[in-house]
Amino acid sequence: MEPRFEGTVSVVTGAGSGIGEYTARRLAREGARVVLVGRTAARLEQVAHQINGEQAEPVADIFPADVTREEDVNRLKDHISRTYGDLHVLVNNAGSSGQSRIMDLTAEEWDRIQQVNVKSVFLVSRALGALMMAGRQREPEAGQSLTNRSIVNVASLSGHKPGAQIPHYSASKAAVINLTRALALELAPYQIRVNSVSPGFVETPLTAQGLKNERFQKAIQRNTALGRVGKPEEIANIIAFVASGEASYMTGSDVLADGGWLIT
Ligand SMILES: NC(=O)c1ccc[n+]([C@@H]2O[C@H](COP(=O)([O-])OP(=O)(O)OC[C@H]3O[C@@H](n4cnc5c(N)ncnc54)[C@H](OP(=O)(O)O)[C@@H]3O)[C@@H](O)[C@H]2O)c1
Repeated sequence: MEPRFEGTVSVVTGAGSGIGEYTARRLAREGARVVLVGRTAARLEQVAHQINGEQAEPVADIFPADVTREEDVNRLKDHISRTYGDLHVLVNNAGSSGQSRIMDLTAEEWDRIQQVNVKSVFLVSRALGALMMAGRQREPEAGQSLTNRSIVNVASLSGHKPGAQIPHYSASKAAVINLTRALALELAPYQIRVNSVSPGFVETPLTAQGLKNERFQKAIQRNTALGRVGKPEEIANIIAFVASGEASYMTGSDVLADGGWLIT
């Protein structure tokens, strides 16, 4: 297979673990230079070390940042601009969850989840989207053909159907799916595609605690047509496809990857 991201620059948020880690590894394996973003530098360093160990030259760079903070996001934009001068792919993957009934949910916890899952997509897309637009505007002058540019937001099955005791998370992911459509419309004149990918249950640090519970695991198996939990690399494969030029006619779409949860 042709490396789909040769010569491109990509940013993956939440790249220190789970789906983000596997996505960064996948993009790098297919030729991208990747900037790994997350709050915990040590985790990012570990992933960058693994990625760079597979390459002739280092291709992974880390940028510790909290994507809910505007000043951090602006520093990230300056870093990309100064170090790389352009950006082709952005994967807004950072996210968090928590469990509560609506009646027991505090306003602070509601805000935390909306900030990390939705506000971050807005802040990072606004800042880095501007770099992608500027890069696009330079292309015709340089006489180049249009390069693939796209944003992929990681939403969730819960954005389609609210999960048990995750009302704040479910609302935030439904917002991500619709924000994706709004952003897709706004960036379409620049031929920058924007899509979301909605995973079902996937084995990552986010679900590790729940998956230790045998009853919960059995319930997932029962309710999933494919009868199993997903692996982060299976979601990374889909994100990479949607991000790549192979999906050149897809924008404003959501790709559900739930092992058949919604059809059972
Ligand atoms: N696993 C699933 O079953 C599942 C299903 C549907 C959707 N998803 C979505 O998939 C995405 C990835 O989750 P995952 O399952 O791979 O879980 P994960 O391993 O916990 O990954 C989340 C990543 O986001 C980073 N992050 C959290 N808050 C951040 C912040 N404020 N600023 C920067 N980075 C932040 C975390 O790193 P730091 O803590 O170091 O910052 C972590 O590396 C999330 O959006 C999640 O909602 C997961």
